[in-house]
Amino acid sequence: MMLVTGAIGNIGRALVEELHALGAGPLRGLTRDTAKAVFPKGVEAVEGDLARAASLKSALEGVRSLFLVSRVGADADILDAAGRAGVDHVVLVSSITVQTHPHLGPAGENVAVERLLKDSGMAWTILRPTQFASNVMWWADAIRGHETVRVPYADVGLPTIHPADIASVARVALTEPGHRERTYALTGPERITPRQQVEAIAAVLGRDVPFAEISREEAHREMATFLGDEAADAVLDLTGGDLNDELLTVRDTVSRITGAPAKSFPQWVSENAAAFA
Ligand SMILES: NC(=O)c1ccc[n+]([C@@H]2O[C@H](COP(=O)([O-])OP(=O)(O)OC[C@H]3O[C@@H](n4cnc5c(N)ncnc54)[C@H](OP(=O)(O)O)[C@@H]3O)[C@@H](O)[C@H]2O)c1
Repeated sequence: MMLVTGAIGNIGRALVEELHALGAGPLRGLTRDTAKAVFPKGVEAVEGDLARAASLKSALEGVRSLFLVSRVGADADILDAAGRAGVDHVVLVSSITVQTHPHLGPAGENVAVERLLKDSGMAWTILRPTQFASNVMWWADAIRGHETVRVPYADVGLPTIHPADIASVARVALTEPGHRERTYALTGPERITPRQQVEAIAAVLGRDVPFAEISREEAHREMATFLGDEAADAVLDLTGGDLNDELLTVRDTVSRITGAPAKSFPQWVSENAAAFA
């Protein structure tokens, strides 16, 4: 039995579909609300809260392979519960920031969960993706409302990844030999700037999308109201304020592992155009 956490999220939804299409065996998708889960026939929707590991008992029953999104719940307790339930292999979504900005708070949490997993006695595969194409959903309300998209570091290009590519790598790691005790840094096929992302959305919508670059200070003021000071600073460092070669490097890991080219940002936009229209 495999359990996919975050099963209706960006990665999990694609992973459930891939594993089901492959006929990879009995499969469960975890959500806090099964009413929201529309899974392919035969995939079992299970309810559980990653913030309360005790609520995962029935979801983990009989599970041998676990796909875990980190930092949405109580990671130490989840790994403990998984080990006690007899899970054999965990594929963990960590973050590229573990190797690019380990000093930042969120990266430190990923460093800690990677360490816990390696010390858990279960087999592991660690995925360290760069920032997701789907993060531009932050702009969806503004674009739908024909408002100006306001972004700092407008011309900083990062090798943004399509979440479905993370799912494909996870699917390979879960179903094929040779991926245990491996750590994979994952990126998209090219660097793309926020300005180019907005242009790609405008092209798919067939209309202008107003865009303005704002200062770090202005962006910080806006982001800190919902993220808090430290997380806002971390996001701003990672999106332009504190660049390094590790963060900017385009890697071929996705194509090497899946055998298919990594998907581009325009492809993600064309698949998700309705969210911006
Ligand atoms: N966005 C980025 O740029 C980026 C970069 C590197 C790493 N990551 C990592 O990627 C992962 C996020 O992946 P994603 O984009 O696929 O997720 P997502 O679309 O943001 O969805 C989050 C999923 O987590 C589930 N979730 C949230 N809180 C939960 C809880 N308390 N109990 C159970 N489920 C919970 C939600 O499920 P329900 O609402 O159905 O319960 C949802 O399906 C995280 O581990 C994050 O640290 C993100």
